[in-house]
Amino acid sequence: MIKKLSILVVCVLMGSPVWADSKRPYQDPALSDEERIDDLIARMTLVEKIGQMSQYVGIEHIQKSEKNMSIEEMQAGDAQGLYPNLHSSKIPALIERGEVGSFLHVKNPAEANLLQGYASKSRLAIPLIIGIDAIHGNGLVKGSTIYPTPLTMASSWNLDLVREANVQTAREMRANGAQWSFTPNVDIARDARWGRVGETFGEDTYLVSEMGVAVIEGLQQGDFRGPEKGLATAKHFVAGGDPINGLNLSPMDISMRSLRQDFFPPFKRAVDVGVFSFMAAHNEINGVPAHANRFLFHDVLREEWGFKGFVVSDWMDIERLKTMHRVAETQTEAVFQSVDAGLDMHMHGPDFLEPLADLVEKGRISEARIDAAVRPILLAKFRLGLFESSQVDLGEARAAMFTTEHQQTALQMAQQGIVLLKNEGQILPLKKDQKVFVTGPNADSQAILGDWVFAQPDENVTTVVEGLKALSSVPVDFYDVGSQVKSTSASAIEAAGQRAKEADVAIVVVGENALRQNHKGKTGGENVGRSSINLIGQQLDLVKAVQGSGTPTIVVLVNNRPLSEPWIVENASALIEAWEPGSLGGQAVAEIIYGEVNPSGKLPITIPYSAGHIQSIYNHKPSALVRTYVDAPSQNLYEFGDGLSYTEFEYSDLELSKDEMGPDGSVKASLTVTNAGARAGDEVVQLYIRDNFSRVTRPVKELKGFKRVSLAAGESQTVDFQVTAEMLAYYDLKMKWGVEPGDFTIMVGASSRNRDLKTGLLKVTP
Ligand code: BGC
Repeated sequence: MIKKLSILVVCVLMGSPVWADSKRPYQDPALSDEERIDDLIARMTLVEKIGQMSQYVGIEHIQKSEKNMSIEEMQAGDAQGLYPNLHSSKIPALIERGEVGSFLHVKNPAEANLLQGYASKSRLAIPLIIGIDAIHGNGLVKGSTIYPTPLTMASSWNLDLVREANVQTAREMRANGAQWSFTPNVDIARDARWGRVGETFGEDTYLVSEMGVAVIEGLQQGDFRGPEKGLATAKHFVAGGDPINGLNLSPMDISMRSLRQDFFPPFKRAVDVGVFSFMAAHNEINGVPAHANRFLFHDVLREEWGFKGFVVSDWMDIERLKTMHRVAETQTEAVFQSVDAGLDMHMHGPDFLEPLADLVEKGRISEARIDAAVRPILLAKFRLGLFESSQVDLGEARAAMFTTEHQQTALQMAQQGIVLLKNEGQILPLKKDQKVFVTGPNADSQAILGDWVFAQPDENVTTVVEGLKALSSVPVDFYDVGSQVKSTSASAIEAAGQRAKEADVAIVVVGENALRQNHKGKTGGENVGRSSINLIGQQLDLVKAVQGSGTPTIVVLVNNRPLSEPWIVENASALIEAWEPGSLGGQAVAEIIYGEVNPSGKLPITIPYSAGHIQSIYNHKPSALVRTYVDAPSQNLYEFGDGLSYTEFEYSDLELSKDEMGPDGSVKASLTVTNAGARAGDEVVQLYIRDNFSRVTRPVKELKGFKRVSLAAGESQTVDFQVTAEMLAYYDLKMKWGVEPGDFTIMVGASSRNRDLKTGLLKVTP
């Protein structure tokens, strides 16, 4: 084991800023990135190199933990980002010694500048790369624009908006001193109990892939050169969205076929569009933790896909190889397994540098492996322009945030991502002079912001009740039952039922709460699993009491995972799935309720009948739903792709440009979509395929394309899709990727339901 002393000696010897006054070649922006990296890496000591692979949490974050926790708590947990035996006051010296290359969770630009200031005093003055979870806006920072959560974004099926939201997020992030966002989360969410469903783009491989690409393109905008662009992270590699018991970080046992067919594609697409960082998953896959999985990070990611960026560990997961997975007996062994597998950066803290230096000294990890990890990290810093300027203008940070333009994008995304699921007797849209009664824990709550957000200034958030009040022409009667979704008092429920009687229409806003800071009250978000997917607490009683008043009742769900309440589906007059629609979400909900916006969102995930029905994805295998349950209906509550509008769309004349093609061919599928109703609207047209007979079983249908079209009342439009051989390909008996000759059903329509789809037959010839 290398001694602390020897590290110190190396640092002291190398520590004097010998080049202090003259520019070194790597500091010359006129040189190419490669020349700069070659020059810089040749100057670096082993410790400085490993320093680049070392990430720490921000000093303020550590200080907060030090202040709020007892010594015992400090030593017990790793989730608070504090380091036993390392006081925050020692961090500046670590940076100045070149032993830290990156920070995360730095939540204000002044701190970012301070940390960069320390880095500029280090021997080689290598700037820090600062990462943050800007998952749907830079939400950990107060005053940011909070866009709808990824699941809500996916419900919009609008890639342009997703791209735009991420261009804007990169701007807000950079203005606040962070350059790297730990997004997109391209996990495939197949289990509604999992707390992280809301930060994914749903259950479908194709939709998730497209959404992931849009996020990467928005954040990185090509090679992320320049002061307003950021680095994206494809995470979590891989398969955490289908945990055995619905709980975060639980094991995944999954066939190689499913891994390659269902879970890899969004990551492969991310590599193809140049995503520059990857994050490993908390979970094990087939017995090997992702963080020690050489097959994933070396064989597949580097060798097969040609990934050129760097891989970061997830929060303390290298440590968990020892403490949780128990595949390593010591921290040094854990570090060995990770770095050997292909991990390039440690999130986070001091238990990395020394063990890794020791492993290199002993020859278990080569210095070439270290260089291979450091090069892309340096390349990122060069491209981001950090060597030229790592300080941000504190005066400009505020001005870049929550701008009118950014708010408009957040609003539009919410308008398009909210899904209307039921509208009996066309109760919606309401007239503005109808007397409305509103209640429910999420009616006047920041729960609309979702996970990965800290409390935002009230003036930046339009809650549902505020949105309704702003649009109604008569007073809205709001009865506040508190904002805890877990408990509502019996007296409040009774009072709500009484007060609803006075109104023409009642609106009950219920669901979940995934707000980060709401430690006791949250029911969704990271690490918050559920064993059922009903409304939590007494919320259903509240809905029933209001409905029992005899006043027609509209239920609005604010939630981060599919929620299943068959009673509501049967009895409420209308049901709106708002998901977590962001800063202006309440305005968007109100605009839909009053008909200023015609709803157009479609579900990116199936709503099962109950938790017991999981897994009930739309793209299931043919035998999955042959037998039925004796104690419950077997069908889902809502299907993937469902979503209503205030107008009617009709589909006709599906035509294939030819009914046969070779194994490399393509055909055009076109059909006419007509707005047969009386008002303009958007429709998301979906293309599915089915391999009718195959040697290895295939899903009953798979999404392969979608288009959002806007149609005026009475307007018709021809919508075309190119069906390519690649869309029909799969892994055959021998795990070879290709198209098997035979018949395929091509389906186009309004949702994944058979009754909504027009079908055509395509023969693939040998
Ligand atoms: C999460 C990651 C996240 C990281 C940093 C982890 O607990 O799993 O998704 O990026 O923390 O906040």
